[in-house]
Amino acid sequence: MDNDDFIYLSDLIKRRSAIVITKDKAYLLESRLGAVARAYKLDDISGIVKKLKSGDRTLEIDVVDAMTTNESLFFRDQHPFDQLRDFVLPSLMERRTNKRLRIWCAACSSGQEPYSIAMLLSEMGAKMAGWTVEILGTDLSRTMIDRCKRAAYTQFEVQRGLPITMLVKYFEQRGQEWFLKPQVRSMANFREFNLLDSPSSLGQFDIVFCRNVLIYFDQPTKRQILDGIAKTMPDDGILYLGGAETIIGVTDRFGSEPGRRGIYRRAA
Ligand SMILES: C[S@@+](CC[C@H](N)C(=O)[O-])C[C@H]1O[C@@H](n2cnc3c(N)ncnc32)[C@H](O)[C@@H]1O
Repeated sequence: MDNDDFIYLSDLIKRRSAIVITKDKAYLLESRLGAVARAYKLDDISGIVKKLKSGDRTLEIDVVDAMTTNESLFFRDQHPFDQLRDFVLPSLMERRTNKRLRIWCAACSSGQEPYSIAMLLSEMGAKMAGWTVEILGTDLSRTMIDRCKRAAYTQFEVQRGLPITMLVKYFEQRGQEWFLKPQVRSMANFREFNLLDSPSSLGQFDIVFCRNVLIYFDQPTKRQILDGIAKTMPDDGILYLGGAETIIGVTDRFGSEPGRRGIYRRAA
């Protein structure tokens, strides 16, 4: 790929999604945009750039979508979900006399994270009786949001992180795919949302999962996004980040929760 095309594409992707593609990751453009070029009957990346320069907004959306990394799995890292069941939910439930909680999975990819939470809540059974818990999953990628709504997973995907007992209880197999049963599927709602936009229109959240997405952004963007998320949360709100992510040196709107790795409390 020539250097001008690399600069044009990496600028566009950063502006539209905040994803930083450094020169050493140029191969990602080559490998991921091939399918986009074919879909638009273009010869190569130069053809994509030419068409983008003519102002094709649909192509722009498809290029950005193709450059998202959508790796996810059920109960990813396990301990965040154990903490949710054993510490975060019980402590928030003590304080919420209206028996309502809202959880946001910001950058939910193909839905494994919000649906893991939905299954965890189902497993809590009687403890959740009388409670209304809303789960909202959002992602920049339309392809991913469509996948979340379809709630169908391959054999490979259901073998990653999902206990077999939950597979049997909450999924049904149709052909090659495993579909989540309506009782769990209906516990989560999904919509497209770009983390670069203000989240104020989404309402307030008691718990926010923003995991394994900040790693793709530069420091000022991380701060902007975390500060925006903080505004959607009450003082006792809990933020989850991914294993390779931290608030330290990024924002003071959140503080670490002593002894609780990966979770942060909204700073008063
Ligand atoms: C690696 S996945 C993380 C999925 C899930 N949170 C997890 O930890 O398993 C990262 C997701 O972030 C999304 N993403 C990237 N940039 C985004 C942005 N600016 N706004 C919203 N989502 C974005 C991608 O589409 C992708 O689905």
